[in-house]
Amino acid sequence: MDDPLIGYFQSHRKLVEGDALDLIRSAPQPLDLSRQLIELAGADSPFVTRAMVESLLRPTGPTRAPPAGPMDVRLENTRASAGPSATAPELRVLREGFEPLAADRDPLEAYSGLFSHRFAALSRILRGRSGLPDLVGIGSVRGRDGEFSLIAMVREIRTTSEKHHTILTVEDESGTLEALVPKGSPEVREPFLVDEVVGLRVRFSRERSRLPVVTGVLRPDVPVTRDSHRPDFDTRAVFISDLHIGSRSFLSDAWDRLVAYLREEGPQPEVAATVRHVVIAGDLVDGIGIYPNQERDLAVVDIFEQYAELGRRLRELPARIQVVAIPGNHDAVSPAEPQPALPPELASLVRGSVQILPNPSTFSLDGVVVTAYHGRGFDDLIPALPGASYARPTDVMKRMLSMRHLAPMYGGKTPLSPQSRDGLIIDPVPDIFVTGHAHTFGADRYRGILLLNASTWQAETEYQRMRNISPVPARAALVRLTDLSLQVLDFSGEVPPTPERGAS
Ligand SMILES: [Fe+2]
Ligand SMILES: [Fe+2]
Repeated sequence: MDDPLIGYFQSHRKLVEGDALDLIRSAPQPLDLSRQLIELAGADSPFVTRAMVESLLRPTGPTRAPPAGPMDVRLENTRASAGPSATAPELRVLREGFEPLAADRDPLEAYSGLFSHRFAALSRILRGRSGLPDLVGIGSVRGRDGEFSLIAMVREIRTTSEKHHTILTVEDESGTLEALVPKGSPEVREPFLVDEVVGLRVRFSRERSRLPVVTGVLRPDVPVTRDSHRPDFDTRAVFISDLHIGSRSFLSDAWDRLVAYLREEGPQPEVAATVRHVVIAGDLVDGIGIYPNQERDLAVVDIFEQYAELGRRLRELPARIQVVAIPGNHDAVSPAEPQPALPPELASLVRGSVQILPNPSTFSLDGVVVTAYHGRGFDDLIPALPGASYARPTDVMKRMLSMRHLAPMYGGKTPLSPQSRDGLIIDPVPDIFVTGHAHTFGADRYRGILLLNASTWQAETEYQRMRNISPVPARAALVRLTDLSLQVLDFSGEVPPTPERGAS
């Protein structure tokens, strides 16, 4: 069965009536509708009926509005203190990386489909750039003389043993090419990564004994300037990550301080009152069996109990706040990226104003575009990039933006899901890019994009001590969406909040 829609329902253990399926297919946003149906069916019912589809499609239906365009979630404003705007916090899902896999796909074929989609999508971005004149296909360039541009995927990177030059093997749809990047040339200052897509300026020589020489590199990157939407009222979002609920090292007191702050019971209650969104960048719970002897570190050993506890903790937040969360590598979904949202039997334990989306996801909060990615890709990029470290994840995030990809390398520590479309490409370009996973706190800006690595609510575990990771826990990034100014809140002790930093 290779119908992705049926596969999607199957992955959520739901059976769809035949004529319900026809109705879903003819809807403007079949996948969004399917997700709403799975939610509507809840954990108990294995069936999706035609009546359920009709109830969602009815223009003034009793359950909710029709799925027009990107999914639109609006929550009732339950408190008057939500800020000067009378509207409810607005969350619009713009892009979910996850796509359900058909059950019987040939994995090899599927990966080749994934890579050709990646190549096509990133070449489209590069083709619009001015730095690649005389663009040719690899297959048409053999035996020619002169300088040409190529768009290619890097397949292999070697260093020559004598002179330490770099030899790249690159590939496009028309062929494969070896090219030399001379040692010390400015083009190797930023190292190449396997499976990234780059634009290259290459000098060819008719002499067969000489390799073509790379004279310039252009990455897809994010544009320097672009149109951005900013809300015209005072609205803020708090970014946190890596709660690891269920771990013995979960920082319960620090969490209570965050809750008190958001309930306007801490310092600067007038600022706290304008927080309308909380974003959590994955590792919501500690999970089970994630690393050797993890059970010694667990306070809650049952995965359902961990999510029930997560639900209890999140319901402590004021009801005016819309929570958006994505899973991470500790959560109870497939570790292959993109990861799906939580299955309904777990999502139902985290009810209330909480929206759990796949990892990664791109959504807008009151019009400001956010890409949230847990950050497993760091595990491959940090060892591959000289000078990169878990202490400075925002440096790696800049590189993700410049290659417009969150985790390109196949066959490393980040398992990639063989989807027909590459869900790890960064598109659209966000205003805020948030990750977790590194258990540190980082904030930086790149071409107008606010980069955040959103700390953790877990103290150091024995396992991290062994791997030499020292966390920077209990920090929350408070962002004023009106101008992207940032304030770092430290809930690890009794430190008062630092002043807001400008959007420069
Ligand atoms: Fe984590
Ligand atoms: Fe993680």
